[in-house]
Amino acid sequence: LCVCVCDPVSPVLQPRGGVERGPDVIRAAGLVEKLQAQGCAVKDYGNLSFEEVVPDEPVGRAKRVRAVGGANQKLAEAVSRVKRDGHTAVMLGGDHSLAIGSIHGHAAALQSPLGVVWVDAHADINTPLTSPTGNLHGQPMSYLIHELQSKIPALPSFSWVKPCVAAKDLVYIGLRDVDPEEHYILKLLDVKTFSMTEVDRLGIARVMEETCDYLTAKVKKPIHLSYDIDAIDPSVTPATGTPVVGGLSYREGVYITEHLCQTGLLSAVDMVEVNPARGRTEDEVQSTVRTAVDVLLGCFGRRREGNHPADYRMP
Ligand code: ARG
Ligand code: MN
Ligand code: MN
Ligand code: MN
Repeated sequence: LCVCVCDPVSPVLQPRGGVERGPDVIRAAGLVEKLQAQGCAVKDYGNLSFEEVVPDEPVGRAKRVRAVGGANQKLAEAVSRVKRDGHTAVMLGGDHSLAIGSIHGHAAALQSPLGVVWVDAHADINTPLTSPTGNLHGQPMSYLIHELQSKIPALPSFSWVKPCVAAKDLVYIGLRDVDPEEHYILKLLDVKTFSMTEVDRLGIARVMEETCDYLTAKVKKPIHLSYDIDAIDPSVTPATGTPVVGGLSYREGVYITEHLCQTGLLSAVDMVEVNPARGRTEDEVQSTVRTAVDVLLGCFGRRREGNHPADYRMP
């Protein structure tokens, strides 16, 4: 098993700063060492560095377009390289707009369709024209979905972005703060969604079974997991930019990755929106970061029942 950690420094599109420190606090919590301890070969690619773009005036309402477009192009190339080398890619964020480059680069390396599991309180599928805030972290999926392309205006530094995900290959888990425009899009494209209502009704075990059945119904496609830490309840993961009450429990959050790991199809993972500056106390930051690490360890084989190496010899 081989894991590569490839961390984009957040191109921070939301006005609140601090989210660029997410990757380093996740590292400081021992992610790499813990992955190695559970048998993964890890290569940490370090933080990608991006040039500042000044001026980067809003395009319509969309903010920081050139910086985000350029940073994601660089990220896409890095992720493609990691995938072509045969590794599982892990992106630490940072802002969720990094999913544009992450998913784009993943798809480019595969040359075959990919399934996306988007775990988030938000759908992040606004187009630049529907976005109520202009923040690109609320828009990444819209640039990637084939069926939305006629609705996406040309943006500076975005000309390299080509749609690479079919609406039917996307599943949402944890939704509870969806803009009306986004809700319209989800219904129009008939996107599979398990909002918190479905998590309540079905339980997380059935949600995950149905997610995987749905994505692998015809062919077994590699899975890109895009995990926004705000999917989990802010009582557990408060250090994030747009917390929303009524989220996944720690146990549900970890169950998702335990289940996806067992499919053997997990091919790339984004862990995003960890923002130490948004924790009010050190405890809030630590609880958020530790949960993010545990979610990631679940992606790479950690089980709560316990684990042992295949070659273990009892003394
Ligand atoms: N729907 C809102 C927007 O478009 C909030 C998005 C929050 N996304 C996030 N990655 N934190 O701005
Ligand atoms: Mn953000
Ligand atoms: Mn979110
Ligand atoms: Mn998000």
